[in-house]
Amino acid sequence: MSLIAWREEFSVGVAAVDLEHRELIELINGLDADMQEDATQSTVVESLGEIYARIASHFALEEKIMREAHYDGFAVHKQDHELLLDELLDVIDSVDDAGRYDRTGLSRDLDRWFSDHFRTHDAKLHERFG
Ligand SMILES: [Fe+2]
Repeated sequence: MSLIAWREEFSVGVAAVDLEHRELIELINGLDADMQEDATQSTVVESLGEIYARIASHFALEEKIMREAHYDGFAVHKQDHELLLDELLDVIDSVDDAGRYDRTGLSRDLDRWFSDHFRTHDAKLHERFG
């Protein structure tokens, strides 16, 4: 079973953003599936690195849309993006340093961060742009 199932509430109503949301969920689910099959630590670090890069560029897209629309929740939303990226970077560093990974903890954190962000901050975008 997939870690994160697509929910309509993850949709913002902007096609490019929604497409990337689906792709990010697929990437995270792919990592979860790899870990269930005992992926090596270096595969996990590599995959987290790719997730980080894709999320960073996705957040940049959302921020561009918000900025251009003079969206009033921009600062708060951007702050949550920065927090998520910082947390993800810390996790990548700790998996890299430890030479091992905690599959359950990692999957739980990825699910929580992104599901929570989609459900709260991105849901507000839906009210504005959907
Ligand atoms: Fe966002």
